[in-house]
Amino acid sequence: MSRPLRLGVNIDHVATIRNARGGRHPDPVRAAELAAQAGADGVTAHLREDRRHISDVDITRLVCDVDLPLNLEMAATDEMVGIALRHKPHAACIVPEKREERTTEGGLDAVGGHNHLAPIITQLSEAHIRVSLFIEPDRAQLEAAHRLGAPVVELHVGAYCDAEDLDERAVLLSRIVEAAAIAEDLGLECHAGHGLTYETVEPVAAIQSIVELNIGHFLVGEAIFIGFEESLREMRRRMDIGRARG
Ligand code: PXP
Repeated sequence: MSRPLRLGVNIDHVATIRNARGGRHPDPVRAAELAAQAGADGVTAHLREDRRHISDVDITRLVCDVDLPLNLEMAATDEMVGIALRHKPHAACIVPEKREERTTEGGLDAVGGHNHLAPIITQLSEAHIRVSLFIEPDRAQLEAAHRLGAPVVELHVGAYCDAEDLDERAVLLSRIVEAAAIAEDLGLECHAGHGLTYETVEPVAAIQSIVELNIGHFLVGEAIFIGFEESLREMRRRMDIGRARG
């Protein structure tokens, strides 16, 4: 019997397209509503320091108007902690953030960042926000997340997704399989995300100790060709195939 696998839909890049011209179209909140209709289990949005895609108003509207749990991706800064405590999203995923990067590059350093992260995780957890740490599939990072008392980790699967060489991809997948097993042993709920596509999702969905996938950029890109709801439904279908196979 396979375990349920949730799909969290990241709508950042609907906002990227909107912001390319300013104004209100396309509306990421409408995308979140469509995601709910297409069977998503949650919606994810990254409020970046530079507000390059999602805005503060988007977060307010996502919390108030959308009937799906919100996973707020955020940097470990005082500003973002304040915003999370004000809005009380269902979940907060702490990610590293560099102003000059195009997207989140690499996982959080939960080992070196222990003293900085510990009070943030405590504050968010005390506000009943489910905290996850976005980390590389690496034992030291998983053990550090466990020491920090984070209930959830999200494994960065971007290197696996980006690998063009199939042997290299297989090696990177085996690291994810191993990391998910370590997370389970440590009692951490395990999620995965970054770079997932129709081509790469099935082997990750097959890993039974991973219970949530967060996917955005590919879904928004595919929506141009087949529509947003259909792009989600096809991803869900491939997740289900992978899950059943695992
Ligand atoms: N999970 C985390 C923590 C992320 O930072 C991102 C990218 O914002 C995603 C998942 C989604 O990645 P993608 O847009 O490549 O599907």
